[in-house]
Amino acid sequence: MRFNPIISRRAFCLGTAALTLPRPLLAQSSLPTLTAREGTAQLAPADYPATNVWGFEGQVPGPVLRFPQGARLERRLVNELLQPTSIHWHGIRIANAMDGVAGLTQAAIQPGESFDYSFTLPDAGTYWYHSHNRSFEQVARGLYGPLIIDEPEAPDLDADEIFLLDDWRLDPETAQITDDFGNFHDLSHAGRLGNLITTNGAFDATRTASQHDRLRIRLINASNARVMTLSLSGLEGWIMALDGMPLEIPQPADGELVLAPAQRMDLFVDVTAENGSEAFIAHRAPQGEWWAQVTWNVGAGSNARRPPPAPLPPNPMQDVPGHETARRFTLTMEGGAMGGMGSANYQGQTLSARDLAQSGQFWAFNGIVGRTEEPFLTAQNGETIRILFRNETAFPHGMHLHGMHFREVLSDNSLGPMRDTLLLQRGEAREVAFVAHNPGAWLLHCHMLGHAASGMNSWIEVSA
Ligand code: C2O
Ligand code: CU
Repeated sequence: MRFNPIISRRAFCLGTAALTLPRPLLAQSSLPTLTAREGTAQLAPADYPATNVWGFEGQVPGPVLRFPQGARLERRLVNELLQPTSIHWHGIRIANAMDGVAGLTQAAIQPGESFDYSFTLPDAGTYWYHSHNRSFEQVARGLYGPLIIDEPEAPDLDADEIFLLDDWRLDPETAQITDDFGNFHDLSHAGRLGNLITTNGAFDATRTASQHDRLRIRLINASNARVMTLSLSGLEGWIMALDGMPLEIPQPADGELVLAPAQRMDLFVDVTAENGSEAFIAHRAPQGEWWAQVTWNVGAGSNARRPPPAPLPPNPMQDVPGHETARRFTLTMEGGAMGGMGSANYQGQTLSARDLAQSGQFWAFNGIVGRTEEPFLTAQNGETIRILFRNETAFPHGMHLHGMHFREVLSDNSLGPMRDTLLLQRGEAREVAFVAHNPGAWLLHCHMLGHAASGMNSWIEVSA
């Protein structure tokens, strides 16, 4: 395995205009700030120019926010961008007013304005935060960061690494983000796929480790649309948690590890590569070859391998009782290129696929395009709900529910791991069950962000 730039090398023509930014309001604040603003990042290899990005604190990824389980997160988001923005705290079972969905749970924060986020963090694990206004553009420009919540007792580890992966579409000459967000081809196909995959905002990710070290690896897929297929080499271990939530029984981390946009995976791995060799997390490129995404140079270790780890302690409310008798709903995903959708309802009118396309809309849930006044379903607080997702399109989709995690209902009626985002390949049907324990208005959408912006967007209501 070796590094292999996806972007081709040609001559550079430099030259980017400096932008003038509006001044933020002078804030009388005691909350620590998190500022959304422009910045630069060396995304491509060192011989390419730096890329202009939008980031929290101007960085890509934004600062790592890290708290003990049960703590309160308090940040004043200051918007120094030229566009309105907001922050969604992805996977946090949060109070509804803090969920950060512009247009549903709060007004978008205008340029020069700010908004105070303050909420408790009930669950330990690996989460992330990202813009939730025009996210198909703002996340693609870099407005996201890791949110890590520590278990009360630290597990026995030699290192704890966050690897936030992103898929960028850069101009191969200038290394600048191509300004074609929401082009109709991307919207109606797989979404915005890029040509450079970064780890923590950089092309190169190299570490050192000693043989038999035990590493915690927190993988986060921040891509707009790229489903990542990863595998380990010189590392052996277990999947400990998915989307933040611990598995009751850790699963072997062998074979292909699939991570849809917005999904997370916590691994505990032991370094098994020989002294003087390398260990890798490899990423499978669309053409099928494996590229090193993270590399460890492995040195001699003094320790023997540890015994297998105990599971991580469960988070509160990981059970989904009564799923056999729960109310059932079906959400059929339709549309897109080669999807054969004839017509659908958009803003109260039935439109042909061609008329929808002229409005930049391509997808529907149960024949309805985009979010409507009425929720997809209304649940009683505490009620268990089942939703069958049927992907009748020609593309994969990652369905994300805000505010509550779900479990997949497997074919033998048992329940799978607790997650907040579920990948459905083309033609697949999968069912989830969850306890509607969190009152409020919660988005339910595809996390291929262009799909969400072009029809795959709905919401549910949980009564108080
Ligand atoms: Cu990660 Cu609706 O978002
Ligand atoms: Cu989708």
